[in-house]
Amino acid sequence: MYNFFRCPKCGNSISLPACACEFIAQYSDGVYQLTNDPYMVKDENADVKYIGYEDIGEAYSGGSIFRALKADEKFNQIAKIIGNGILLDLACGDGLYTVPLLKHGIKIIAMDISDKMLSLLYKRAESTGVDISSLVMCRANALNIPLTDNSVDSAIANSMLHLISKPEIVVNDIYRVLKKGGKFITMQDKPTTNTLNDKTLSEIELEDNKKHDEMVNFVHHRYFDILKNEYNIMGTRYSWKFDRETICKNLFNTSETIIIPMTNKVQYSFNDTFIYRMKGKGFSDQSDVPFDIHHIVFDRVMLEFLEKYGDDALNTTHTGYENDVEIIVYEK
Ligand SMILES: C[S@@+](CC[C@H](N)C(=O)[O-])C[C@H]1O[C@@H](n2cnc3c(N)ncnc32)[C@H](O)[C@@H]1O
Repeated sequence: MYNFFRCPKCGNSISLPACACEFIAQYSDGVYQLTNDPYMVKDENADVKYIGYEDIGEAYSGGSIFRALKADEKFNQIAKIIGNGILLDLACGDGLYTVPLLKHGIKIIAMDISDKMLSLLYKRAESTGVDISSLVMCRANALNIPLTDNSVDSAIANSMLHLISKPEIVVNDIYRVLKKGGKFITMQDKPTTNTLNDKTLSEIELEDNKKHDEMVNFVHHRYFDILKNEYNIMGTRYSWKFDRETICKNLFNTSETIIIPMTNKVQYSFNDTFIYRMKGKGFSDQSDVPFDIHHIVFDRVMLEFLEKYGDDALNTTHTGYENDVEIIVYEK
């Protein structure tokens, strides 16, 4: 696991932590430092921009970790597709995929640009009692993966490519580090039910879902309207419409699509998920909002919200089913 790295200083192969060129990777709290790049680059003149989640930290997971950890079937299937060998979890964040896959005995090199997110992953891995000896964590930039060519057996890069202004650079580098026959595994939710008219949900659940979605829209729109009109700040978006499939199909030899049907019913509250994350500036499109302005605007929107909907509305729940997952496996 420690032998596949590329020295950030001389570019030669290195067995962590030390290179023949005298570079020594700093190591603390389970993380090897393999880049000095900033947590995020937003400078309009920069060639490539990206959003690391250093400021987002705990606010990222909201209720989503909880929901994902229920999705045992999804991780069983993904673990089967990965099979043996070493997985690169690129932009691993706080371990949404890393921790459940470690539970399945997968050996993982986990990389992220954010120290904060890596520290959250480490805490989660420790607290869930997974085998940490199967995990190597590095702070690294996905735009320049510090692994040698043809080194890992599989790779995932979940929910990250949209945060980079030139995601094709990352996909090319993933291709480079995969062994011949190695797999780049992409995952995408495919909702199969409409939670506003699903016949299996009760009248009360359907009403609550409608109210929940309306309130999400209200808070989101008011927040970004005020930012735009009064502070001239827009939501940050880089490559939301990036055509991953076309780029991957041109690069990789083969692809296979697998649908994992999910049936678990899930319920979460407006306050514990959406509001928790928005309040913590946990959505990537909030990343350009300075904290002081965020607090002023968020508090103002919440006052308007409470006036319109009342305190009890915060407890409104959303009920639905876990989304089916579409997995595309690209093979080198
Ligand atoms: C939306 S989170 C996804 C985390 C995790 N993969 C998941 O599915 O929950 C995006 C992650 O990408 C990381 N990231 C953004 N730009 C990056 C870069 N250039 N190199 C490495 N990680 C990056 C962020 O720090 C963040 O942890």
